[in-house]
Amino acid sequence: MKVIDSIPEMTQFSEAIRKKDQSIAFVPTMGFLHAGHLALMRKALKCADHLLVSVFVNPAQFGPNEDFSTYPRALDQDLEKCRKIGASAVYTPTVDQMYPSGFETYVSLDKLPMHLCGLSRPDFFKGVATVVIKLFNIVQPHVAVFGEKDFQQLTVIRRLVTDLNLDIDIVGVPIVRESDGLAMSSRNKYLSPVQRPHALLLSQSLEAAEKMVKQGETDAARIRAQATDILAAGPEDMRVDYLSLCDPDTLEEVAEIRDKTLMALAVWLGNTRLIDNRVLVP
Ligand code: PAJ
Repeated sequence: MKVIDSIPEMTQFSEAIRKKDQSIAFVPTMGFLHAGHLALMRKALKCADHLLVSVFVNPAQFGPNEDFSTYPRALDQDLEKCRKIGASAVYTPTVDQMYPSGFETYVSLDKLPMHLCGLSRPDFFKGVATVVIKLFNIVQPHVAVFGEKDFQQLTVIRRLVTDLNLDIDIVGVPIVRESDGLAMSSRNKYLSPVQRPHALLLSQSLEAAEKMVKQGETDAARIRAQATDILAAGPEDMRVDYLSLCDPDTLEEVAEIRDKTLMALAVWLGNTRLIDNRVLVP
């Protein structure tokens, strides 16, 4: 497995694969890899001849008061995991390479970021869209794999690829959870042993909503009220950022569950922001 930290080398590596008429599946990550990331990589290996992974904590998607400097990093372990799973190369660019002095071009979407995470993280999707386009241009994949854990991000990437006519297949992978239901996330590392059990309230509120819908409930307000009750059992420093029942394509709020509906939530547990979601099917 190659570890590549320069843009020309990364592009040459991809070009050599493409010249052999072989295909590339790409998994962009911010590292501190867990079983969720590995599920994306396994999926990618089934989609193409070569798996390329990037590990880059992207400053452009962190707000000024967010955790860019403390975001967990463990490159050696990450490389070992990528090697074991069968990646052909891992791309580890530096911040200076990705955002050299003078950098001023960003990609932003009009409407999708006006919902869910975009409301409390105003420049987040601009940062994500920009870095993903840059990575796509450098890595030149045929397929790119993203997790449904970040449902809005996946929706944004699909829109981006369609709108900018990129010839890349975007593949989504279901959320990978701990055995007790907590959605895996690099940020789970921030949770104290006291906070950890409370984090389960997110997946529990989604499960309860799914049950309600299966029993025939269609009123979004009643589903939201039940989820709010479940989350209210949390400690004082637990605060709901958003709890949304929305159209999975447009992310617009819905009042009635008539069709597939995305239930998505973000919750602060102390200084840690957790997200989770589930598609409810009536
Ligand atoms: P990161 O949070 O490292 O996640 C990388 C990919 O792993 C994303 O597609 C994310 O949705 C997926 N993922 C994370 N946890 C998951 C889980 N429990 N189950 C399934 N998939 C999961 O998302 C980012 O990095 C960045 O925004 C990035 C796209 C790399 C751009 O900087």
